[in-house]
Amino acid sequence: MTSSPAGRKILLSGSRPTGRQHLGNYVGALAQWLDLQDELECFFMIADWHALTSTYRDTTELRENVRQQMLDWLAVGLDPTKATIFAQSAVKEHAELHLLLSMFAPLGLMERCTSWKDNIVEGGNEMLRTYGFLGYPCLQSADILMYQAHVVPVGKDQVEHIEKTQDLAQKINHLYGTEADPVFRVPEWRLGNAPVLLGNDGRKMSKSYGNCIYLSEPAAEVEQKVSVMVTDPARVRKTDPGDPDKCSVWSYHKVFTDPKHYDGIQEGCRNATIGCRQCKKLLADEINARFEPARQRRAELERDPDHWRDVLREGNAAARTRAVATMERVRDKLHLYSE
Ligand code: TRP
Ligand code: SF4
Repeated sequence: MTSSPAGRKILLSGSRPTGRQHLGNYVGALAQWLDLQDELECFFMIADWHALTSTYRDTTELRENVRQQMLDWLAVGLDPTKATIFAQSAVKEHAELHLLLSMFAPLGLMERCTSWKDNIVEGGNEMLRTYGFLGYPCLQSADILMYQAHVVPVGKDQVEHIEKTQDLAQKINHLYGTEADPVFRVPEWRLGNAPVLLGNDGRKMSKSYGNCIYLSEPAAEVEQKVSVMVTDPARVRKTDPGDPDKCSVWSYHKVFTDPKHYDGIQEGCRNATIGCRQCKKLLADEINARFEPARQRRAELERDPDHWRDVLREGNAAARTRAVATMERVRDKLHLYSE
């Protein structure tokens, strides 16, 4: 089995191209990737085929979303000298492996997927009742098994997909591999310990809800967005004591603010010695300080419009080399026709 030439464990993760990255993307994925790129052999993928599973009717924003996402990934410090950053649709082997995996994928397994149940069984969303949407976990499995990944860092909602990847890998290993020479490495998922950030409306921060603070947002915008965040509803006036645990501003402080300020904020809120306005200003300053270097880097990257494209092209080529090797092995193991 292909193992990393450098002897490090292999990591694959990815995300659909949603465009500009927001604080939720950072906390939920990017921050963890940044730590792991020093330690593991990382593959970070822009899952543009996966984007089509739900937005196949209008793809006009897709390319621009890829560009925006790449600019932010590079700006926050994903480093092409350490990790392979590539686009799914540039490595056609993913389509071949998806096809092969689909032969082994029981319909029941695919239907036992939260997003299928929510959208199709319960939601009656006819637009998503497609072969492609049902096969979403199968395509994701192809992404992972292609690189013989040991670990896949994901959010909670993705764990069920990795379980399906494990099932498919085990099934094929059982049929076509041996204990000593399995066809695929069975990957593990790794959950981050980051909380899910809520947007201003109390829902998960998501571009589709329009409740995001973007990484590349100018400082004044961040300040404005933070200033209208919902606080403990019991704290109407500055003299009312508050409870940080009922306040979304506090949940952000726990992620972005230097812990040495925690006691002051919590006590100040509980005994009404700091006001919400001051508390929010502190948060906005922390967020702005944290992302200022990334914003500067992003501005530089925008001045060289081809840079992100070159990075991606090189990443695609490196990913392809691995993918071609995996597929040769898989075809061989499955006794497929060979010239
Ligand atoms: N499903 C993931 C998401 O929506 C994106 C994804 C595609 C992915 N292929 C993957 C994540 C492989 C991890 C591993 O964010
Ligand atoms: Fe929230 Fe801070 Fe106001 Fe307390 S002081 S309610 S933590 S914004």
